[in-house]
Amino acid sequence: LKVSVIGQGYVGLPLAMSLAEAGHEVIGLDSDSSKISNLLAGKTYIEDISTPRLNECLKSGKYSPTDSPKAIANSEVVVIAVPTPLNSAREPDLNFVKSASEVIGQHMKRDCLVINESTSFPGTLRNVIKPTVEKFSKYTHEYAISPERVDPGNKTWNMKNTPRLFAGLTKSAGNLTQELYSTFCDKLIEVSSPEVAETAKLFENTFRQVNIALVNELEIISNALGISVYEILDAANSKPYGFMKFKPGLGVGGHCIPVDPTYLAYAANEKNIRAEFIDLANRVNNSMPDVVCERILNILGSNFADKKVLIMGISYKANISDVRESPSIELIKKLRAAGVEVVWNDDLVREWSSESSTSIGANKFDLTILAMRHDYMTDSLIYESSKVVFDCTGTLSGTLSL
Ligand SMILES: NC(=O)c1ccc[n+]([C@@H]2O[C@H](COP(=O)([O-])OP(=O)(O)OC[C@H]3O[C@@H](n4cnc5c(N)ncnc54)[C@H](O)[C@@H]3O)[C@@H](O)[C@H]2O)c1
Repeated sequence: LKVSVIGQGYVGLPLAMSLAEAGHEVIGLDSDSSKISNLLAGKTYIEDISTPRLNECLKSGKYSPTDSPKAIANSEVVVIAVPTPLNSAREPDLNFVKSASEVIGQHMKRDCLVINESTSFPGTLRNVIKPTVEKFSKYTHEYAISPERVDPGNKTWNMKNTPRLFAGLTKSAGNLTQELYSTFCDKLIEVSSPEVAETAKLFENTFRQVNIALVNELEIISNALGISVYEILDAANSKPYGFMKFKPGLGVGGHCIPVDPTYLAYAANEKNIRAEFIDLANRVNNSMPDVVCERILNILGSNFADKKVLIMGISYKANISDVRESPSIELIKKLRAAGVEVVWNDDLVREWSSESSTSIGANKFDLTILAMRHDYMTDSLIYESSKVVFDCTGTLSGTLSL
């Protein structure tokens, strides 16, 4: 099939690769010209997509990256994979989804199937995407949803072996979605309406957000009780049923866990229901950089003005360079606001806010905070950086930790 994917980011680029490898003719559209220049030059900016894989797709002639919306005109299927962030009032911001829908409406020169992969509240496909496309298009399009479940950096679960939900606004839209996605995905599960798929996606991430908050709360309690949270968790995890282990940490980051539950809370709010678990979990998770900051100031003692602190890992996730909503960055800001000199090391992020990753030398710092651990951060690299190490990741033993 001729398929266009709007948005060549963490979701859209891997999807475009999988589609091209399955033999479809794929246009990868992105409004960010620098991303397109990189892609055309065979340079990947997504960790899960290797340079050889990208180049293979380009060489096959099946994948064409472009920043020109006109290129989508003859596609049989157009997939939306654009960001769905929160605005400054922390409410759903559907501007990217609306602009992608407008692009489809304005540039399609035939009927097509529009599939949404962007995460949003129930009703987005039916009440936002369809009317926006139709406002600009004289063609009769069909509409479906198949929420992406990608877990960047996960070596076990990928686009092929992770089961996928889907639903069409019409039976034929669902059928064509199944036909297309079954060319690169092993298991597809049809649900009765797009709203079920939209809400299931939000609930999956809300489940993680709430459980991470619960274990962060346990960490605060166990710390006050003087008991190791990790030992408690290992002990509880010996129960073979009815328990699932989540790890405490500096908070939550990225495009999904801190954002998606607020989309569900928004949908609840529209029906005059307050999503109390979501509000509470947001509060607990957002408080973790404060909790850690306070503990670090206690360790540094009264003369912290002349102390130099190193934070290792400033992305939100191990082995990923994405710093969106990263709690490590919150910690940097809080420590600096308290008057502590803070530098950071992250060879994946390399540059952030006109600052560069600091190189690690033997005992260069008074204290090292392991905020997020990438694979290159060996025990010896971490321990040699300073005499005192504070571990937020639960991956070091015999040192100060959450
Ligand atoms: N990152 C994840 O792990 C993940 C997992 C599952 C679902 N999602 C969801 O998938 C969606 C996309 O997330 P992402 O992480 O891929 O975002 P991203 O920021 O990595 O990529 C989105 C891309 O869309 C482009 N874009 C925005 N508006 C456009 C337009 N009108 N036309 C063309 N290009 C446009 C941007 O330039 C950007 O490159 C979001 O709704 C997100 O919640 C993300």
